[in-house]
Amino acid sequence: MMQGKTIVIGVTGGIAIYKIADLCSKLTQKGADVWVLMTESATRFVQPITFQALVRNPVLTDTFQEPNPSVISHIDVADRADLLLIAPATANVIGKLANGIADDMISTTFLATKAPVWIAPAMNVNMYAHPAVQDNMSKLASWGCRFIEPEEGYLACGWIGKGRLAEPMDMLAQIEAFFSEGTCQKDAALLKVRQDLQGIKMVVTAGATREAIDPVRFFTNHSSGKMGYAIAEAAAKRGADVTLISGKTNLARPEDVEVVEAVSAEDMFREVIKRYAHADVVVKAAAVADYRPKMTYDHKMKKQPGDLVIEMERTTDILAELGARKTHQFLVGFAAETQDVEANARGKMERKNTDMIVANNVSQEGAGFGVDTNIVTVYLRTGESYPLPQMDKSQLAHRLLDFILEARRGKVE
Ligand code: CTP
Repeated sequence: MMQGKTIVIGVTGGIAIYKIADLCSKLTQKGADVWVLMTESATRFVQPITFQALVRNPVLTDTFQEPNPSVISHIDVADRADLLLIAPATANVIGKLANGIADDMISTTFLATKAPVWIAPAMNVNMYAHPAVQDNMSKLASWGCRFIEPEEGYLACGWIGKGRLAEPMDMLAQIEAFFSEGTCQKDAALLKVRQDLQGIKMVVTAGATREAIDPVRFFTNHSSGKMGYAIAEAAAKRGADVTLISGKTNLARPEDVEVVEAVSAEDMFREVIKRYAHADVVVKAAAVADYRPKMTYDHKMKKQPGDLVIEMERTTDILAELGARKTHQFLVGFAAETQDVEANARGKMERKNTDMIVANNVSQEGAGFGVDTNIVTVYLRTGESYPLPQMDKSQLAHRLLDFILEARRGKVE
């Protein structure tokens, strides 16, 4: 259940920190990829090396500490999180988060992440009851943060009352329940920090098309569909109404996405055009065949002596058609290139009348077909270009959605 899940834990300076060491160990044993962020005061209670040894990932304590030069740590960790848990959360960090202050790893990650955020407060009973803290918590709750309530009991400061950090086993149970089927879906819907794509109708195409020669043979390409699926999934998580028009792939259907199967370029064209008038954003991540056999045999072709020539004809260029018929839609194309990436990408944007082109050099290692990462440059209609570092396709999906949202805002206004 925890396998493949990235849990980012923001640890602040409270005596209950020792419980988080235990929680980190338990989560790691269950297969989660745990990343720990510590405030300066947290490091006065426990050395970062303790957490590093338990989770086997570098502990991040400083926004200027950048162990990997190809990424910016607080953005990278914010993007990769499936859950951000801040525990123990002091009154100080709760105050900062509620007021948008971003001056350390935890507060910057909090603002940058699109993952659900859970906060487990721990402090003196009177501090906890203070209207300042209560107001800050209400504000955070109204933004979608979920609180793991502190327990009542003996507090380290000598008082007895509410303020004691929840027990590691209880937190573990809640996290497990969150990631278990059903609950995760329900909670994810409740806990989204930013539903910034709500009200947007999005059509995404993905995967390779197949152009039949006969009932058993076809022309296709290497596209796995991963990029388009990642975009559809990320957009749905952020509240968009998403239809994914997909060529044949081996990928699981993303949650909360309507999936429509399209085998050939013509199937895909038909399915996209049907939905075009009502779409706000169309992302054409599919690798569509440019040619198909002029003739498709009804029965399996039998081999003959000598060579075989198959005559090919052009398919409809779906993106170009969408560009020509564009009214209000924001149109995003992809360009998989092996040379002259910029010139080809800009040429496609012009020819196909798109608002954005996501270009990658598929001959580069870590970019393109079949792999889980991609290296792209985003080209916008306005002339700007943004080269992005290598990142997971799911992280990249969120970045691309940010570009779309921002550029579309500029276009609509
Ligand atoms: N595309 C499309 N329909 C086609 C071919 C391509 O919608 N029949 C879309 C792809 O989904 C992608 C973009 O066009 O978003 C770029 O595809 P590509 O084949 O690389 O572009 P072309 O303009 O066909 O350029 P070339 O073949 O010269 O590389």
